[in-house]
Amino acid sequence: MKTLLIIYHSITGGSKAMAHAVAEGAATETATRTLLLHASETTADHVLQADGYVFITPETLGSMAGLMKDFFDCTYYAVLDQINGRPYTALVCAGSDGQGAVKQIQRIATGWRLSEMATPEIVCTQAQTPEAILAPKTINPENLQRCRDLGAAFASGLAMGLF
Ligand SMILES: Cc1cc2nc3c(=O)[nH]c(=O)nc-3n(C[C@H](O)[C@H](O)[C@H](O)COP(=O)(O)O)c2cc1C
Repeated sequence: MKTLLIIYHSITGGSKAMAHAVAEGAATETATRTLLLHASETTADHVLQADGYVFITPETLGSMAGLMKDFFDCTYYAVLDQINGRPYTALVCAGSDGQGAVKQIQRIATGWRLSEMATPEIVCTQAQTPEAILAPKTINPENLQRCRDLGAAFASGLAMGLF
């Protein structure tokens, strides 16, 4: 059975809600195992044992969030050249931009020789003042449904051997 590994970090809950929605969608494909892990608990072994990846992070200061970067820093060389060609996609929860985080993840995925199974998605929460940025985030139903659909499509594609 193939495994879809969903790795996320979140500060105010937006990326976490997106990650859970992706996992919910993926779980509808019972022929694929879904593993949802916070970045801080994801090891190189988890990465090696999975068949596809969804990376989900907030954008902070124009970058992916620090704990997500730490996950890549801690696993990058331990899995290099052992996961070539496996599929991935990235989801970024941003206040208003998100492009910086997407580009960083794409560069790392290129280094890992991963294959992008879908264009990365950015969900903007419109948080631009300090108060709005620090407030808990609610992701709107349409975006959560897109996350569910992505999870279902990814898990089905893995089960069918499309990727
Ligand atoms: C320290 C900090 C820096 C941020 N910098 C950016 C940024 O560069 N670009 C952007 O679009 N949003 C930025 N944001 C806003 C977050 O991306 C936004 O609040 C997002 O919804 C957070 O996702 P989360 O709820 O999963 O933590 C920043 C937030 C914080 C706390």
